[in-house]
Amino acid sequence: MKEREPENYKWWQKEIVYQIYPRSYKDNSGDGIGDLPGIIEKLDYIKDLGIKVIWISPIYPSPMADFGYDVSDYTGIHPMFGTMEDFDRLLDEIHKRNMKLILDFVPNHSSNMHEWFQESRKSKDSPKRDCYIWKDPAPDGGPPNNWLSVFGGSGWEYDEETNQYYYHAFLKEQPDLNWRNPEVQEAMFHVMRFWLEKGVDGFRVDVMWHLIKDDQFRDNPPNPDYTKDYSPYDKHLQAFTTDQPEVHDIVEKMRSVIDEYDERLLIGEIYLPVEQLVEYYGKDNRGAHLPFNFQLVVLPWDARKIEAAINKYEGALPPEGWPNWVLGNHDNSRIATRVGAKQARIAAMLLLTLRGTPTIYYGDEIGMEDVSIAPDQVQDPQEKNIPGKGLNRDPERTPMQWNASENAGFTNGNPWLPLMGNFKELNVEKQWDSEESMLSFYRKLIALRQKEPALQIGNYRPVLSKGNLLAYIRSSEEKKIFITLNLGNSGAVMDSEIPFSKAVILASTHAGREGKSLNKTIDLQANEGLVAEITE
Ligand code: GLC
Repeated sequence: MKEREPENYKWWQKEIVYQIYPRSYKDNSGDGIGDLPGIIEKLDYIKDLGIKVIWISPIYPSPMADFGYDVSDYTGIHPMFGTMEDFDRLLDEIHKRNMKLILDFVPNHSSNMHEWFQESRKSKDSPKRDCYIWKDPAPDGGPPNNWLSVFGGSGWEYDEETNQYYYHAFLKEQPDLNWRNPEVQEAMFHVMRFWLEKGVDGFRVDVMWHLIKDDQFRDNPPNPDYTKDYSPYDKHLQAFTTDQPEVHDIVEKMRSVIDEYDERLLIGEIYLPVEQLVEYYGKDNRGAHLPFNFQLVVLPWDARKIEAAINKYEGALPPEGWPNWVLGNHDNSRIATRVGAKQARIAAMLLLTLRGTPTIYYGDEIGMEDVSIAPDQVQDPQEKNIPGKGLNRDPERTPMQWNASENAGFTNGNPWLPLMGNFKELNVEKQWDSEESMLSFYRKLIALRQKEPALQIGNYRPVLSKGNLLAYIRSSEEKKIFITLNLGNSGAVMDSEIPFSKAVILASTHAGREGKSLNKTIDLQANEGLVAEITE
């Protein structure tokens, strides 16, 4: 019984993660790009939302070919974002508020401007040669094999200097590090310790499933499902470039570094089917604490498919594996655009009532939508390299909408990406005091989740439902909470086996429902979701 008490759960099981894309959160320097002092200014906002864990996308020195995911110095701060003093102050201010800071760690590749790569490319005998993945050309002089880059074209870049190719899973400015080399491992663990010593509370590890590649460099097989609408990268199945068996040893080693310190967190960015994803918890849970679960990002918004995915995931988790859920991030279309403004409330309710740590992408709490980007405004290298396939990530990376003033209060300068046209209506200041706003709805759900152990750490049990409805019960020793969500835009009746005779509504997507009772037949309006405490 005792181990079921909330105090026996880790902070990262109980709290909610908030992702900040630092270029777009708050600019205090006036250069049109967000910065660390800007984030510091907004910490009270995040705290007042009820969120305690902040993950910040990369803030390290970088030529910004991939907006910070091309790191040229793993232990520095890009001057655009501030100084190391600003960083120390940020960490201090976060900890003073009893909050946590997660950094983005990008170990799969560095920038081509990193000194290791600069040294590595000098000659075949360079002491750093083997820190990257170099291969001779194929007999015809072409790339060593058929591996492709996620961002278009071959994954191999020819380097005249030494007449060899180097491998890059992403941009040619992002050469892949050779994680089979112990020297690379040690150097990267040193980087982790550098930040952990400073007091950082953990890492979100970029493209964790990419870290190790086939040591025989075998060609990837064709993808039988490929069509021209897909990214050219999807022509192949990534049989030999990602999710290799040896990656789990690396993850385990990263986890050991994390465990040298108290209470730190290891999150992995992993886009894989559930059976493969759960392997990243590691043997005896010695892997990532939270392998990011992107099912709500990649699945169609369909009650039956989502229900099946939740149940499959719950069933696939290892015994001590803690679940987690994500609705959006800087690489995917925003939830409010994918499912529409009304269903975005349902999505919020789902995210905040499922079992497992939720991650909220900045701006989703006010219902920000993708912003359309004119061709001459495109920044994202993925769109530049593979235009016209809907792969632009700029739309979901636009500046946070703080208020109705010029540039939505994001900057005094010229914002690096355009703002959404509706920011005068859709912004934090306006929504904070309006009871019906998305922001107030998020705050209410967050407060409820954090107050009710049943929602925060309780069990999950599906309830039979049909059509557009999704229903489940979360329960602690003391309480049972029933959640039902209408993923459709017409009314629906929940008339299947309802496992209670009375429940009292704690939260609803619709006004005027709280405090009312539910009994045998539940009538849901279009786009309605309810959270109710079972009383009889
Ligand atoms: C991850 C990041 C993405 C980046 C890529 C390469 O998927 O989330 O933004 O472009 O890795 O580092």
